[in-house]
This record gives sequence, C-alpha cells and structure tokens, in this order.
Amino acid sequence: MRLDKFLSQYTDYSRSQIQQLVKAARVTVNNEVVRKADIKLRGDEQVKLDGQLIVAFAYRYIMLHKPLGYVCANNDSEHPVVVDLLDVPRKQDLQIAGRLDIDTTGLILLTDDGQWNHRITAPKQECSKTYQVITAEPIQQDVISLFAQGVQLHGEKHLTRPAHLEILSSHSARLQIHEGKYHQVKRMFAATGNRVIQLHRESIGNIKLDSQLAPGEYRPLNEIEIQESTQ
Ligand code: URA
Repeated sequence: MRLDKFLSQYTDYSRSQIQQLVKAARVTVNNEVVRKADIKLRGDEQVKLDGQLIVAFAYRYIMLHKPLGYVCANNDSEHPVVVDLLDVPRKQDLQIAGRLDIDTTGLILLTDDGQWNHRITAPKQECSKTYQVITAEPIQQDVISLFAQGVQLHGEKHLTRPAHLEILSSHSARLQIHEGKYHQVKRMFAATGNRVIQLHRESIGNIKLDSQLAPGEYRPLNEIEIQESTQ
C-alpha cells in the first residue's frame, strides 16, 4: 500500500494534508524521515507521525442478536437502527452482511471488511441462511417438495433456488435458503397461501447465533467463524 493511502486510512488526515505533513518532515518510516508521500510500503514498516506510531486498524467482524423493531441500516429517520446497539468506534464504517426486516429477529453480521461482506452476501456465493418460521395457517407437507423444487415469487423471473424445509409443528418450521431476495421467506410462504407471523434467523453459512446473546447483544466473531463463514 502507498504511504499516503495508509495514512489517510488510519488517521483523520486527507491525502492533501498528508502531502503537507510529509513535506514538513513530520512522517517517518522505520525512523527515517520520508520526503515523498507516494512511496510503497511492504506492510511491516513502522510508520510514525510526529513520533507517534500509526497502527493499522484490524477489520471488525461482529455478530448481533437483532431485536424486533430495529432497522438494518446505519441511519433511519423513523426507527432505531441496529448500529445504535453497538458501543464501538467508527460505527459508520460497519456494513451489514445480510439484512433482516424490522419485524424479523436473529443473527446479523456487521463488518468493515468489504470483501468478506461480499463473500457472505453476493448471490453467486449461495451462502446458506437458516430461519425459524411461525405461520398463521398450518404448514402443509407438500410445501417441503414445493420449496425443494423452487417457488415462483411474484415479480421474479426465476424460481427460488432449492430450499430445505423441516416442519417442526403444525405452525412452525425451519427453512434453509441459499439466496436473499427481498422478503424472501415471507414471500415463499405467501406463495403457498400462508403468512409468516414470526421470523427468526438462526444462522448464516456456518455461523450460528450464539445462544448466550440476548436480543440487542453482540460479540466479535472468533477466527473459526470468520474463516468458515461462507460454507
Ligand atoms: N426473509 C424475509 O421475508 N424477511 C427477512 O427478514 C429475512 C428473510
């Protein structure tokens, strides 16, 4: 990475201010004053500004138990947003990997690592998501094969991808899908003449919502969860 990019990423200075800082001999790399802001860093150098070591921020990966009534956004004029629940710096840098509706609860993932977010959310990755569903009407047995084959959702060109439905009781089921169309689970049940009245996400890929987390609570992902998230 270039020195000026590194400094603009990990300090509050803009690229043009960094040019001035370099000109003023306030920046050192491995204790040598640098004269050019565009030099390339290998990644193991000590960069200092006015003698203070500049530490690269590590990416953050967070799981949050989303409560009812919160919007999966960084700002909303009407409702509280999930980032309000976090007590971490630079909240606005966090992206939400896989949004939930305001009336859906359960696992959401937040990160400032855009590539990781892409691996979780890009349709091509077909990352699985598992939901617990409570419905208004009894769930018929034939819905299992219907969802396995794919359902035609209103306004969509293609059938939904094969999904796995496990009926847990007359009005409840666990559904695993491999895509994330708008209101997908509600629309899939609507296509069977039923209505979802409660929806809770249990997992995304191999990451399961930690049962120790009450609604509104969060924790960092561990290394295994970060590495194996997209299988
Ligand atoms: N499907 C829905 O319908 N809503 C959600 O929040 C998530 C999946």
